[in-house]
Amino acid sequence: LRAKACNVVTYEFENIPTSALDIIEEHAPIRPNRRALATSQDRLDEKHFLEGLGLTVAPYANVENLQELEDAVAAVGTPSILKTRRMGYDGKGQIRLKGGEQLADIWAQMDGAACVLEGFVEFAHEVSVIGARGADGQVSCYDPGENVHVGGILDTTTVPAKLSTSQRMDAVIMAGKILNALDYIGVLGVELFVTPNGLLVNEIAPRVHNSGHWTQNGCVIDQFEQHIRAVTGWPLGDGARHADAVMENLIGGDMDRVPELAADPNVALHLYGKAEAKPGRKMGHINRISPKS
Ligand SMILES: Nc1ncnc2c1ncn2[C@@H]1O[C@H](COP(=O)(O)OP(=O)(O)O)[C@@H](O)[C@H]1O
Ligand SMILES: [Mg+2]
Repeated sequence: LRAKACNVVTYEFENIPTSALDIIEEHAPIRPNRRALATSQDRLDEKHFLEGLGLTVAPYANVENLQELEDAVAAVGTPSILKTRRMGYDGKGQIRLKGGEQLADIWAQMDGAACVLEGFVEFAHEVSVIGARGADGQVSCYDPGENVHVGGILDTTTVPAKLSTSQRMDAVIMAGKILNALDYIGVLGVELFVTPNGLLVNEIAPRVHNSGHWTQNGCVIDQFEQHIRAVTGWPLGDGARHADAVMENLIGGDMDRVPELAADPNVALHLYGKAEAKPGRKMGHINRISPKS
């Protein structure tokens, strides 16, 4: 068993079966811990946890059958988004409701999966904080990035984000609160909606995050090294950035732009080596770097 040879085990995506973790945990500590993983695996548990910390989330209701969907639409209203509680990513497992839909048809599309209905948040923009907490409890966050999604998939992350000084501080404090409450060790992504009434938490990810890829070329210690430092008990990088950055995902046909991008001296190219470019498939990303503003 490989786990026997490991001092510590970590993960890069959250949909790991409990049975596998049970086996691994006998041989090596799992970092971030299982509570952090379980909390972020289920959108309903996640919302309960966040509300318990006094953080604000979008209005929501649990939906496990057609009747509950009808009740949820009555309570939460439209526009809203029906999301599977588990396994969703890149906008998958989500149906947007404008109002007037046949709810029986909508529910049928969910294949019996437990869901949450979320009120649609009219956000000004989206930001995320990539934070880390070390084995000694030290917390370090990167500057929040501003995220633009297209069709539910992250398109660009821009640093610095359009945030006031107090919003920037608020965002980082929220991330710190979450990290401490989970007794977290490793890197965590916190997705936030910026609204006129303050910051709402959209979701958390117990791992390095696509919106933190800019740190590869904008910081001395990037999020990947930061994560390894945290789980192995090393000192954390301080999160400082030395540049402004725009990260852009290369999705599907964007791969045609690679020759042009490779010739741009301000662009760092990161390709994942996936064999086939399909629509909606993340093939790589670029970081466009400029002097720190
Ligand atoms: N309640 C909401 N109101 C408005 N937009 C939303 C809401 N939930 C999700 N979105 C949009 O869809 C994107 C993807 O949804 P998210 O819940 O983050 O799922 P995923 O797990 O696929 O990242 C968000 O980043 C945001 O742009
Ligand atoms: Mg998301």
